[in-house]
Amino acid sequence: MATYPTVFRLASRLDEIGFSDIVNIRNKIMALRANGATVYQFEGGEPYMNTPEFIKAAMVRALEENKSRYAPSSGVPELRSAIAEKVREKNRIPAHDSDVIVLNGGMQGLFGAFQSVVNPGEEVLRAIYYNTPQNPTGVVFTADEARAVARFAQDRDLIVVADEAYEDLVYEGDHFSVASIEGMFERTITCFTFSKSYAMTGWRLGYTVASEPWMTGLRKTTLYSSNGVSTPTQWAGLAAFTTESEILETHARAYRQRRDLLWTGLNEIGLPCAKPMGAFYAFPNVSRISNDSRAAAEILLERARVATVPGIVFGAHGEGHLRFSFSTSIETIEAGLDSLRRNL
Ligand SMILES: Cc1ncc(COP(=O)(O)O)c(C=O)c1O
Repeated sequence: MATYPTVFRLASRLDEIGFSDIVNIRNKIMALRANGATVYQFEGGEPYMNTPEFIKAAMVRALEENKSRYAPSSGVPELRSAIAEKVREKNRIPAHDSDVIVLNGGMQGLFGAFQSVVNPGEEVLRAIYYNTPQNPTGVVFTADEARAVARFAQDRDLIVVADEAYEDLVYEGDHFSVASIEGMFERTITCFTFSKSYAMTGWRLGYTVASEPWMTGLRKTTLYSSNGVSTPTQWAGLAAFTTESEILETHARAYRQRRDLLWTGLNEIGLPCAKPMGAFYAFPNVSRISNDSRAAAEILLERARVATVPGIVFGAHGEGHLRFSFSTSIETIEAGLDSLRRNL
């Protein structure tokens, strides 16, 4: 009988890529829950609040108005224009409408950026990934630090892929976009998202700002993959930008309160932790529990029913740390800390 061994083999370019540890953690949580356990969840990576009503209403309106057909692959012109205005005013990035593409979240922007900048098999440094505010440490880079990165990129002729997903979640200092520095727009691809600022993770709406030749790369990767973001979702995104509201300030206040509670509590328990300046993560050193962060996460989950993400997931420098999200209720933070105090 003839066999065709090569037909049922996954393309080799995917061999090196694994699924994230977070899937394993979620499975363990589900198993514990199925056995009746209460699990204090700090492993998440998304806003705990719901999408604001005025954004949901704009989506409903768009559907009622039958704004349901293909939009241009790079985005609805009105939204691209509003984004260009936003990045010029708020981020001080000198972008025109043609430098903006609407994408399925920050993730599609990062994918398109790296596809556009790095060649297959390339080992030389071609690009710097610059994430501020940072996941998982909560670090917010200062304007001076951004200038140092810019000088480094300019001296070595490198491209910067700036990930500013948490730009609106800053508790100390100010967010500063590296692409706003003189001469940096040309060599920076900046990825933004509605996910964290507007509690819209499930909507899959983001945008990326870049000049040529990078924008052509982003347009091609989009045209030949998703062919753009769902049209009504884009109209809802426009409402997020153009409707007068206090939502960003209200959310930032709520996160700051949770940050203070978790950060103080972790340090009191003896899990030393730098103060998160932005995003919604604390990243304590847990080496007194185990230097192996996967083992430490396991111990916290088994003994205290506290779910976290092992630092190793974020690279070798993350080993010995755990990521706790403070994007959850005050009650969960208090109960989780109490469980750690009693069970560690
Ligand atoms: C640092 C960072 N960048 C980008 C993203 C992508 O978010 P999304 O694809 O939902 O916009 C995330 C999501 O957690 C993130 O933490």
